[in-house]
Amino acid sequence: MPNTPRRWPRIDGIAFGGDYNPEQWPESTWREDAALMQQAGVSMVSLGIFSWARIEPTEGSYDFGWLDTVMDLLHEHGISVDLATATASPPPWFSRHYPDSLPMTRDGVRLWHGSRQAYCPSSPDYRAASMRLAGALARRYRDHPALVMWHVNNEYGCHVAQCYCDASATAFRLWLQARYGDIERLNSAWGTAFWSQHYADWDEIIPPRTTPAHPNPSQQLDWMRFSSDELLACFVAERDVLHAITPDIPVTTNFMGAFKPVDYFSWAAELDVVSNDHYLIGEDPAGHQHLSMTADLIRSTSGGAPWVLMEHSTSAVNWQPRNLAKQPGQLRRNSLQHVARGADAVCFFQWRASRAGAEKFHSAMLPHAGTDTKVWREVVGLGADLSALAEIVGSAVEAAAAIVFDWPAWWGVELDSHPSVDVEYLPLIRDAYAALWNRGVTVDFVRPDQDLSAYRLVVVPSLYLVSDAAAANITEYVRGGGHLVCGFFSGIVDTDDSIRLGGYPGAFREVLGIRIEEFFPLKQGEVVSLDDGSTGSVWSEMLHPEGADVETRFADGPLPGWPARTRNDFGSGVAHYLSTRLDPAALATVLDEACTMSGVASPIITRAGVETVRRRDKRSNTSYLFVINHAERDVEIEIDGDDILNGKAAGGRLVVAAGDVAVIRETPTSSRGE
Ligand code: GLA
Repeated sequence: MPNTPRRWPRIDGIAFGGDYNPEQWPESTWREDAALMQQAGVSMVSLGIFSWARIEPTEGSYDFGWLDTVMDLLHEHGISVDLATATASPPPWFSRHYPDSLPMTRDGVRLWHGSRQAYCPSSPDYRAASMRLAGALARRYRDHPALVMWHVNNEYGCHVAQCYCDASATAFRLWLQARYGDIERLNSAWGTAFWSQHYADWDEIIPPRTTPAHPNPSQQLDWMRFSSDELLACFVAERDVLHAITPDIPVTTNFMGAFKPVDYFSWAAELDVVSNDHYLIGEDPAGHQHLSMTADLIRSTSGGAPWVLMEHSTSAVNWQPRNLAKQPGQLRRNSLQHVARGADAVCFFQWRASRAGAEKFHSAMLPHAGTDTKVWREVVGLGADLSALAEIVGSAVEAAAAIVFDWPAWWGVELDSHPSVDVEYLPLIRDAYAALWNRGVTVDFVRPDQDLSAYRLVVVPSLYLVSDAAAANITEYVRGGGHLVCGFFSGIVDTDDSIRLGGYPGAFREVLGIRIEEFFPLKQGEVVSLDDGSTGSVWSEMLHPEGADVETRFADGPLPGWPARTRNDFGSGVAHYLSTRLDPAALATVLDEACTMSGVASPIITRAGVETVRRRDKRSNTSYLFVINHAERDVEIEIDGDDILNGKAAGGRLVVAAGDVAVIRETPTSSRGE
């Protein structure tokens, strides 16, 4: 994994800050904001994300005066600016002048302005207006010393990921023509011989709007691809305007973790810097694990390069049914988890809690109650922690195991009219991730077609759809000595969503040494027993070993006596297969064994609930061990180095109190982590 970002904002140390929305406040507040930011150690704010109406109050007339004042004020206080292009929320005049730019749902309902993100990504008027605005901002601030990064739009697709209007239909047809060239190639890929769907002319094709029965699945799949690409085209259009005017300023847009509609692996290549927003689901007891998973996924989209945590919350959000406040210490742990997993910038939504509007109950760095608060004290404390950690900037996270993650496979497996609605993508990814997290194993997420040779263990929790090249890549990985664990309902279809004939799991029959004759999905909530005392749910299938050894069989359910887990020694490697959703303990055992066999270990041995991750600076060969104690008991660990956060040499044994975090600069050894 690389040790240097492709490009990075011109900021010393770990960037720290948040979204700053000064337009919500009178000018008299701005000076206090800047002074308090300085007090907290804030080094970068994202400015103007929702300021379109204030910057361009009527079409073509710009008001930059207030923004000049804010930019200057921030600069005077030593605070850099990630300046937004402000195109995330067109103002009311825009939708009034260009009513066709409003997005449309699958049912043909227009969505109105009055909240945010009310635009169709394919609208030529929106595209032109957003490029104009980005250009005006770039020309205005190209030489401003506070400007260090461009923040294009905001969370593309968060509210409108797909638009079904006529402009979108036109753009979809163009996208399909570029993909297929010939209409008969599209007919073949979409299997339109079925249900009399044959297209004689491109103009007959529409988005998968609401239909009487299941819409064509290949059409739906291409629609997902198109919609992700179309949002990306909006980003690229603005980015190109910015690059032309300010070639030295990196450009980003904020991702949303494992967000289904947008394929961030394909997006990341177009960004100068990857950034992400992450919010805990307050009522999820494994929320901290999910945070780690998201951070690992985002680092992986960035090819291992450092990334920006653009938003998270200091405490409660406002958009969950019950918005739980963070416990004391949780803000710090959450922030440092992201840093442990590769973030070199830690920012929040938002700087000052809003007084009005839909997000007035969302926490912020500066709460309604002011500075005599738990949140403010923790924000100031975090600023000090991040400044102490400045030396880790640019170091890379170490991972010897990988989980295959693929957006098209996610889209494919959750299409309708499948054997079971209970086969959902993320829960299977989370199962595997949790088992490895609990063992202290750091993982990268990988695309199925990327070079896997750096990993000792590769887990494929679910890969329903796979290209020939990706299937060959995984097969060759095992043949060359790799260790694979593969979940059920994988390798089933090609990239058109056509079945790979001759027995499942088509693409992986050879490497797994099995043939599946028929699927036997389980009833809702049904749990079946396996002959080793473990259990499975969701799925079972009639599996014939063709070279593989059977490790476990179903003891009851629809297929007593049939194989539930197999192992195939293939080439110089090993491929395990799971034909049901194993219970967490059983999956942990399988992955424990796979880790042991493949030589994958945690950075240090600790206790349940203690997260350990190692970052290494290859330039200085210095390694940093993050120890984050999520548990309710103190933990004592063996270390060899200094605890940077506590600023003391701790060599030997270190107690990390319940809820606390330590970051150890490890004493270099020739063998560690190699
Ligand atoms: C998203 C948006 C922010 C804000 C937060 C609230 O991340 O980007 O503008 O709405 O959610 O959690």
